[in-house]
Amino acid sequence: MTQPLVSILMGSKSDLDVMQPARDALTELGVEHEVRVLSAHRTPDALFEYLAAATARGVEVFIAGAGGAAHLPGVIAAKTTLPVLGVPIPSGHLLGLDALLAIVQMPKGIPVATFAVGKAGAGNAGLFAIAILAGKRPELAKKLVNWREAQASKLLAESVIA
Ligand code: RP5
Repeated sequence: MTQPLVSILMGSKSDLDVMQPARDALTELGVEHEVRVLSAHRTPDALFEYLAAATARGVEVFIAGAGGAAHLPGVIAAKTTLPVLGVPIPSGHLLGLDALLAIVQMPKGIPVATFAVGKAGAGNAGLFAIAILAGKRPELAKKLVNWREAQASKLLAESVIA
């Protein structure tokens, strides 16, 4: 196995199902990635240790899913200048609106790219990570174009309803 280029992090194992589309997108387009459960609140020291190690190993993009107070993407962005893609996880009474507002309202100077709440956001974060990597990898850019074309063909093939 080659060195992972993308790290998918989440605040709890209960986030795994929502984050699955990010893994699927990376797997489908053949991008090496790793997945870790680490919490900004519950395991901050382990998170910081991991971030330093992953960056030293060559990870180029972090995808971070979190629910509730959802500090994980912002805390990662505080520790690295690599791109951080935040996915709000729907959990508890506020159904992800809490996480969306927490992730999107980063203070000026420490950016996090914020995606839609839930599985659509996770899938798009995976695709966006690929788009970032594709900037300097023409073969990956080609795969992304092919993926888009396949998506369009599928929709067109099913476009006549009545
Ligand atoms: C957040 O709190 C996690 O990202 C998760 O979405 C939410 C609930 O976590 P658990 O109580 O299910 O571990 O930190």
